[in-house]
Amino acid sequence: MKGVVLAGGLGTRLYPLTKVTNKHLLPIYSKPMIYYPIQTLVDAGVKDILIVTGGNSAGDFLRLLGNGREFGLKHINYTYQEGEGGIADALSLAEHFVKGGKFVVILGDNIVEESIKGEVKIFSKQKEGARILLKEVEHPERFGVAEIKDDRIVKIIEKPKVPPSNFAVTGIYMYDSYAFDIIKTLKPSARGELEITDVNNRYIDNGTLTYGILKGWWTDAGTFESLIRANNLVYKKEAGK
Ligand code: G1P
Repeated sequence: MKGVVLAGGLGTRLYPLTKVTNKHLLPIYSKPMIYYPIQTLVDAGVKDILIVTGGNSAGDFLRLLGNGREFGLKHINYTYQEGEGGIADALSLAEHFVKGGKFVVILGDNIVEESIKGEVKIFSKQKEGARILLKEVEHPERFGVAEIKDDRIVKIIEKPKVPPSNFAVTGIYMYDSYAFDIIKTLKPSARGELEITDVNNRYIDNGTLTYGILKGWWTDAGTFESLIRANNLVYKKEAGK
């Protein structure tokens, strides 16, 4: 299966840290942020990887990662997102790379404690559709949140004021190539972006969205609070503290 790391955007919630550089190049303990989602894919056996970058310092990803030798890779693919079109817009740039197959997407600021290998294996056997990973969190209103009835997700609500559950939709998504057909029909949300939540809701409407619950801790790193949380969690894990 192929993998896509989304590492564009302007990271405005982290200004001025991201005024001159890309959010995904900021440090998380001992490595640049993007190292962690790449390692998550590689550990899951996903070794054919596309990085979608954009915004500030896009060229620095090439200087930093090259052909991915540090991850045991022979080659990394890169593409460039113009403007601030959102996660689903960034994902649309992966269509030529995926070439009709199934693929795993990870947001460049999502860091996990444990391997997602088992989940990728489950999805590789799924005939069609999508699979997302949920995690129970204390403040679901910061995320896409799943409304669950009889063990099925009936709807995902993006940053709800009144969350229907404590299950956040993490930034790890598995799709078949139908995702690209969906994205072509999307309209920008109130924040002016093509939302990945709208893609997932379409799969729910089609009855082809499955989900798993992520094991271990999970964090994103797009706000000051989550950035320091990510640093602390990774420090504890890697330094054995
Ligand atoms: C995005 C998604 C949201 C998801 C989150 C995970 O939010 O829109 O559904 O829960 O990533 O990190 P954003 O970081 O763009 O606010």
